[in-house]
Amino acid sequence: MSSWTSGYVSEVAYTAGFYRELTPAMLELAALGKSTLTTQATQPLAVCELGCGRGVSTNVLAAANPHSQFYATDFNPAHIVEARALANAAGSKNVHFFDSSFAEFLDEPSLPQFDIISLHGILSWISEENRRTIVAFIAKHLKTGGLAYVSYNSLPGWASAAPLRRLMMEFGSLHAEGAFTKLGKSLDMLGKLKEANARYFQASPGVAERLEKFKTQNKNYLIHEFMNEDWHPFYHKDVAREFSEAKLNFLCSAHLLDHVDALNMTEAQRNFLNEIEDAGLRETTRDYIVNQQFRRDIFIKGGVPLGLFTARERWQETRFALSINRADAPTKVTGGLGEAAMQTEVYGPFLDALASGPKTLKTMQAIPAIAELGWARSIQALLVLVGSGHVQPCLDDKNDGKRRESTRRFNRAVMENARHSTDIQALASPITGGGIGVDRFEQLFLLARLNKHADAPAFVWQILSTLGQRLLRDGVPIETPEQNLEELRTRHATFLEKRLPVFEQLGLT
Ligand SMILES: C[S@@+](CC[C@H](N)C(=O)[O-])C[C@H]1O[C@@H](n2cnc3c(N)ncnc32)[C@H](O)[C@@H]1O
Repeated sequence: MSSWTSGYVSEVAYTAGFYRELTPAMLELAALGKSTLTTQATQPLAVCELGCGRGVSTNVLAAANPHSQFYATDFNPAHIVEARALANAAGSKNVHFFDSSFAEFLDEPSLPQFDIISLHGILSWISEENRRTIVAFIAKHLKTGGLAYVSYNSLPGWASAAPLRRLMMEFGSLHAEGAFTKLGKSLDMLGKLKEANARYFQASPGVAERLEKFKTQNKNYLIHEFMNEDWHPFYHKDVAREFSEAKLNFLCSAHLLDHVDALNMTEAQRNFLNEIEDAGLRETTRDYIVNQQFRRDIFIKGGVPLGLFTARERWQETRFALSINRADAPTKVTGGLGEAAMQTEVYGPFLDALASGPKTLKTMQAIPAIAELGWARSIQALLVLVGSGHVQPCLDDKNDGKRRESTRRFNRAVMENARHSTDIQALASPITGGGIGVDRFEQLFLLARLNKHADAPAFVWQILSTLGQRLLRDGVPIETPEQNLEELRTRHATFLEKRLPVFEQLGLT
């Protein structure tokens, strides 16, 4: 083990994901859902990400919010080289990456005071000492009124599967080889243990299925998730207690579907919960009701309620954009209680209104079918639509043009990267100030348009064939060049019909 890693995996790079919860406009909408005064993403903010991995989230957000400054650190230098390379290729001047450990970053002299400090996928995978350093960092660097976002594995959701991870580590540590071998061998051993009818698997619901799922999951993800020296699922109350040292109070979940009780708890469960006075205990007990295994908490340094009038005004001024094809909008949503139908008369009018372009709530309220819903149902509908990822909160329309300059440069850099890589699956939207999921083929089709290629499928096939790559149909490689091109033509037709109009409205073209 190298001395700088504190037992954290460093030889294998993490996945290159974009996490929407880190988006300033998303965090603010969650706070608005709780009628609480916060920063405003339309204003210049200073934003910090601790443990940024390969830096995709911070890079996307910096491109989509050129009026704000973004700082991020990760002690794995390979991650930071990659993050800086993308920022350089995009010409982003408002993003600053450091390869400092949390302890080194605490005393980094060039840091400003932050409006938002985020850590996604960190807290459960570091030592107690590093957790204390993070709390000290927030205490020192978060502005009064600022938000801290932290996600972590939680209890009781992990209670039955935690022993699985312990044996993974133990079996892995029997091997001196690299992380992939350790992972493979430990999964083999666990498979054999299950075959031997170990009673743990019978007595622990869902554990056998979880082990089965590991076989299909990204190995880099599994190594970072399970093969670190530290792995600690937490009760919410304990995290809230630690963060209170930095004068932080729990505000709400960043996962907006959690805001809608009807999706997550029966009436009896809600009544039971409402009897618990202590906020931390109430939130922790809620985790028992839904058997929460991953939490996305927003804390605030000085929560002040917004007056009813101001809260309504902020909601009405917020612009929303559809990020899916209207015709394909799902009719169901999944919460803690399982699947629930999305009533057409509630969700349909919003989806129809947004299908013709981004709109503020105020504009949508002029539509009779939306006006008829009334305030509470309208807000709940928007929380569900945004929480499900079908709709995104946006920044102000006055500055769309300015943001477009930086997102254009950034998106071109990502699309050029897609010539040889599937790693980055998000582009920056100047409309939302966030990232939008766009897969490699869609990126290459967009690149063909940008480069004014008359035949986009042929352009993409040229790239793939040069690399000796072929498309897959139902998981099987397609044989001949003609068949590959035909498949690309089919995919391109779907892209033109369903995805391009959405991407155009989100400013990705
Ligand atoms: C599970 S990954 C999450 C990365 C990123 N936040 C994401 O969600 O894609 C955890 C990251 O924290 C970094 N890390 C772990 N301990 C650290 C420390 N003490 N100082 C700085 N970075 C650390 C690791 O290198 C790794 O990239």
